[in-house]
Amino acid sequence: MHATTIVSVVLTTLLASVRAQNITTGELGNATVVDNNPPGATYLAVLPEKQFFNPSDPRGNVKGSVSATASPDGIGVVYSVSLSNFPTSGGPFTYHLHVDPVPADGNCTKTLAHLDPFIRGEVVACDPKLPQTCQVGDLSGKYGKVTNGSLVQTYTDLFSSTRPGLGSFFGNRSITFHFANKTRITCANFTLLGSATIPPSTGSNTSATATPTVVFAGLGARNMASAGMALGAAALALLL
Ligand SMILES: *[C@@H]1O[C@H](CO)[C@@H](O)[C@H](O)[C@H]1NC(C)=O
Ligand SMILES: *[C@@H]1O[C@H](CO)[C@@H](O)[C@H](O)[C@H]1NC(C)=O
Ligand SMILES: *[C@@H]1O[C@H](CO)[C@@H](O)[C@H](O)[C@H]1NC(C)=O
Ligand SMILES: *[C@@H]1O[C@H](CO)[C@@H](O)[C@H](O)[C@H]1NC(C)=O
Ligand SMILES: *[C@@H]1O[C@H](CO)[C@@H](O)[C@H](O)[C@H]1NC(C)=O
Ligand SMILES: *[C@@H]1O[C@H](CO)[C@@H](O)[C@H](O)[C@H]1NC(C)=O
Ligand SMILES: *[C@@H]1O[C@H](CO)[C@@H](O)[C@H](O)[C@H]1NC(C)=O
Ligand SMILES: *[C@@H]1O[C@H](CO)[C@@H](O)[C@H](O)[C@H]1NC(C)=O
Repeated sequence: MHATTIVSVVLTTLLASVRAQNITTGELGNATVVDNNPPGATYLAVLPEKQFFNPSDPRGNVKGSVSATASPDGIGVVYSVSLSNFPTSGGPFTYHLHVDPVPADGNCTKTLAHLDPFIRGEVVACDPKLPQTCQVGDLSGKYGKVTNGSLVQTYTDLFSSTRPGLGSFFGNRSITFHFANKTRITCANFTLLGSATIPPSTGSNTSATATPTVVFAGLGARNMASAGMALGAAALALLL
């Protein structure tokens, strides 16, 4: 084969694989599956009577709760969402696990950003077909936005955790609901129901409580296509 043919074959192959990998992940890689959630741990977030912000709606706040229980096998967390009375306009509504709890004054701005231990960011929308690439806290991105007045749904999320000590632990944090334009409507703390069996970590095995470490320092949240272009250029340079 002529060199130019080889080059074009190499480039085509490279670009095809890059196109297939146009995926946004966290700077620390994909979210990891948590497989040692303490059995029996259930956290409940009950929305307050008074909304944080919904000025033009006389029907009061969104009503209901979100409960989250470690799966019996410790792999993932089962969310049970039961909500009604969403505003009549301004949707579809999104909701997320947020980093901080709700302060005593109920100000949802102070719950800070989405729970995002892998530093993925929210600029590029989550692809629900690849939930490991999404922000850990982006529940509506992974499992669906609220498109009408209510949401009754149960799903298992493999990436958030009921194990204290992990970055993906949400038990000391909150859930926040937004209008489509991101303005915060309401928020609530998670609180632990009953008692969880949390095995003590021994000095010789810290993996149970350590923050997940993922060795991937390369492309980060940037679009991988640019890296592919660089690779293609490198291949071209080598062959010429
Ligand atoms: C790759 O992702 C970017 C956004 O990150 C998007 O604009 C572009 O259309 C995507 N390309 C393909 C081929 O999916
Ligand atoms: C993240 O997961 C996606 C989908 O499985 C995979 O294509 C991609 O290579 C992963 N990225 C990293 C950095 O592990
Ligand atoms: C967002 O949408 C809500 C509901 O439509 C509206 O009340 C609010 O003013 C909007 N916020 C911004 C910053 O535009
Ligand atoms: C949420 O939890 C935090 C931490 O326990 C607490 O300080 C705060 O008062 C709680 N917020 C509400 C609205 O109950
Ligand atoms: C909520 O907190 C933010 C940030 O501290 C502040 O700017 C805002 O005025 C507060 N809103 C209300 C209604 O207190
Ligand atoms: C509300 O939205 C859900 C999810 O899209 C859908 O399954 C349900 O039928 C809708 N309910 C009504 C009353 O439109
Ligand atoms: C919540 O728990 C995690 C893991 O134990 C910890 O890193 C984080 O600082 C805690 N956040 C708050 C607001 O207490
Ligand atoms: C350490 O803990 C992890 C998670 O609980 C477990 O899978 C692993 O077998 C333990 N390793 C040792 C050496 O005890």
